[in-house]
Amino acid sequence: MPDQGVIYIDAVELQNKRILLRDDLNVSMNPDATIADDARLRQSLPTIQHLLKNGNKLIIISHLGRPKAREEKYSLKPVGKALQAYLEGYTVTVIDDFLTADPGVFQAQKNNEVFLLENIRYYPEEKQNDAAFVKKLAALADVYVNDAFGVCHRTDASVVGLPHEIPSYGGLLLQKEITMISKILKDPQKPIVALLGGAKISTKINLIDRLLEIADHLIIGGGLANTFLSAQGLEIGKSFNEYDMAETARRLLFLAEQKHTSIVLPLDVVVTNDGEEKGKSIIKNVKDVTKNDQILDIGPETQAKFGAIIAKGKTIVWNGPVGLIENPDFRRGTDFIYYAITENQEAISIVGGGDTLAAISKKEYLDKITHISTGGGAMLEFIEKGTLPGIEALKAAG
Ligand code: 3PG
Repeated sequence: MPDQGVIYIDAVELQNKRILLRDDLNVSMNPDATIADDARLRQSLPTIQHLLKNGNKLIIISHLGRPKAREEKYSLKPVGKALQAYLEGYTVTVIDDFLTADPGVFQAQKNNEVFLLENIRYYPEEKQNDAAFVKKLAALADVYVNDAFGVCHRTDASVVGLPHEIPSYGGLLLQKEITMISKILKDPQKPIVALLGGAKISTKINLIDRLLEIADHLIIGGGLANTFLSAQGLEIGKSFNEYDMAETARRLLFLAEQKHTSIVLPLDVVVTNDGEEKGKSIIKNVKDVTKNDQILDIGPETQAKFGAIIAKGKTIVWNGPVGLIENPDFRRGTDFIYYAITENQEAISIVGGGDTLAAISKKEYLDKITHISTGGGAMLEFIEKGTLPGIEALKAAG
C-alpha cells in the first residue's frame, strides 16, 4: 500500500463498537509488584476516555515487562486496579486468559465495563506475530486502535498483526508522539545536544551512528559510558561493561572525530567498593578507578561539564539515566541533568524512555520540557528511522 498516513481516532466516528485498544501500560514496578510510577497509564487515559464515549466497549491489550512465562510479578492486575481508580463509573475487569475465557463473558460486556487482557506477553505467539493468534485477538472486536507508541518498534502480534485484520486507527497519544517528535526533528535548531544513558551500547549502535550524523554533542553516561571508558584503556573495575563492544566503541569514537561531533564522556564518577570504604559512595577521577570499584553515577566535575553543554544547546534529546536511580546516593547525576534541561528555556527538548520517565515523573517543572515521550527504544528508533513498524502497519491499514 502507498504511504497514506495514519488515520487517528479524532478523525473518525466510532459508535457502538467493540474496540481492541493496544496501550503501553508497561509502568515501572517495585520489587513487591506494586506500581512505582504510573506515568504511562496516565498518558494513555485521554484515548481511553475518548473511546469510552458513544456506546463503545473497550478491551485493552498491554504488556508488562518481558515475561518468559506466566509469572505473577508480570501480572497486569495492579495496573487494572490503578486504571479502575481513574475511571469513575466504570468497572475494570482483568481477563486472565482470553483464549480459554467463556466467549459469553465478551458477549455480555456492558458499556460501563472495561476489559483489560492479562499481560499479552504471557502468550509466546505475541512475539512471534502468530497469524492464528492475531485472528483470535481480532475476533474479539470490530475495530483496533493503537495508542502504544512505546511498543511500536516491535513487530509483535498486537502491534503489527492486528491492523491487517480489522479497521485500525491511531490513538491520541500515538498522534501526539509522532507529531511532536517529527516537528522537533524536522528542522532542529543547532547546537543539537543528545544525551544517552542506560546500560547497553549494543542496543544503541545504530542510533549512535545516526546521532553522530545530526548532533553536535553526544553526551554519554551510565553503563554505556563504562564501555567507552574501558575501550579507551581505562580501568572500570567491577562496573557494568560490554567487553565485546570495545571495538565498536572505538569505531564510534573515531567516527565522531570524522563527523566533528564531540562524544562527551564522564571526567569523574561516583563509585562504591567492598574494600575499606565498603558501602560508601566515593567520587573519583575516571583515571583513579580501581579493580574493586563499581561506577554507579557521574561525579560533580562531569555534571559541570555536561551542564555547560546542555546550557548552550538549542535542541536537546535525552534518553536513559546516568546512574543507579533506585538508590538516592547514585541518582544525583540524573537529577542534575533533568534540572539542567529544564533550566535551558531557549532549547526545544525531548525526553523519553521508561526509566527516564520514572526518574523524572514526580518532579517539578515537567512543563519546561517540550515533549516527554512514553517511548524509550521506540523514541530512539523513531529518531533514527523516522517511522516504526507499528506506525507502518497502521498506514497500510488506512
Ligand atoms: C518500553 O518499556 O520501552 C516499552 O514498553 C517496550 O517494552 P520492550 O522494550 O520490552 O518491548
